[in-house]
Amino acid sequence: MGRKSGESEPTRWGTLIILLMGLISFSMVYIFMSSVMSSPPPSSSSLSFNSKTKGEESEFGGCCKGIEKLELWGAAVKWGTEFKFNSSEQCCKACKDMCRGNDGPCLCDSWVFCGNKVACGDKFGECWLKKQKDVLVPDKQETGNKIMWTSGLIFGRGEGIVGLETEYGTLHIKLLPDCSPKSVVYILELLALRHCAGCYFYRAEGRGQSWDVKGSHIKDASFGPPFALIQGTLEAQGTTFNPIQTEHNPTIRRGSVAWAGSGPEFFISLANHEEWKNSYTVFGSVLPEDMVIAEKIAELPTNAEVWNNINVSVLEKNVPLRFQRIKIGNGD
Ligand SMILES: *[C@@H]1O[C@H](CO)[C@@H](O)[C@H](O)[C@H]1NC(C)=O
Ligand SMILES: *[C@@H]1O[C@H](CO)[C@@H](O)[C@H](O)[C@H]1NC(C)=O
Repeated sequence: MGRKSGESEPTRWGTLIILLMGLISFSMVYIFMSSVMSSPPPSSSSLSFNSKTKGEESEFGGCCKGIEKLELWGAAVKWGTEFKFNSSEQCCKACKDMCRGNDGPCLCDSWVFCGNKVACGDKFGECWLKKQKDVLVPDKQETGNKIMWTSGLIFGRGEGIVGLETEYGTLHIKLLPDCSPKSVVYILELLALRHCAGCYFYRAEGRGQSWDVKGSHIKDASFGPPFALIQGTLEAQGTTFNPIQTEHNPTIRRGSVAWAGSGPEFFISLANHEEWKNSYTVFGSVLPEDMVIAEKIAELPTNAEVWNNINVSVLEKNVPLRFQRIKIGNGD
């Protein structure tokens, strides 16, 4: 995905080079495979998405992952002493099952499972389902090697949406804690900070003539540049960023919010990038109606730069950003 030059750090460059190699080899393949570029200009019809018709399942990320050696507190809605499972996934699913009502917030939004047979002893298999006072600020946690519990968060319909505020508007992002729990914990830390000094977009590339307004690739068009993304960094001043291990790597869709490598570089995709395979950890998605804001940022003035043989468009002026809480509204 790339990183701004001039801010080099050996470890990040390592990741960068691996990532760029992918893009480079892709571009090379493209150059060899296609000699003529002919594609229609992107359609100018207005964005038409219907976020309200999404199935209940897609309200979640469709995964059931938690974080080991983490104990989330909070009021129990189901006591683990009589509620046992063989895996953390089953415990997570039991929580999701309490969260399928059509109205109101989830009855269960967090789960705590004892999965280490030796350390847990009689507690092995205990599955505690909980309801946080504020799911964006999960209750007092214990973490560390001595902790035998695994915990996870569940964000149901209308929950777990944070605002990514920019001067061009606020992008509402649905976080996916069941798929990329560690990434989401980091975003919740940024949210709690209330500032995100040092967080900004620095790269902006439109869909060009390669992807249509819905993000679908146009037949026979190139796969960039431009690469249909806005990219930035989420390393807030005054915090220590620990690289995030690979979590959930689905195909990048229009609206996907993903780490470039192990962060803190991240990007929002304007297109469906099947050609990138499963290379990036996705931890959220921009609500479809807010993609106009991402498109606006993608059209800001840029300068051409070359990062490891990749042509990129770097914003003339960085776009600062920060996470903010969203008022609980009408369920979007
Ligand atoms: C857990 O595994 C045991 C032994 O394999 C089995 O008897 C039990 O039914 C399983 N429990 C659940 C909830 O799947
Ligand atoms: C990158 O930009 C240079 C000059 O602007 C151009 O000649 C070259 O073809 C570009 N490479 C790709 C892969 O688009």
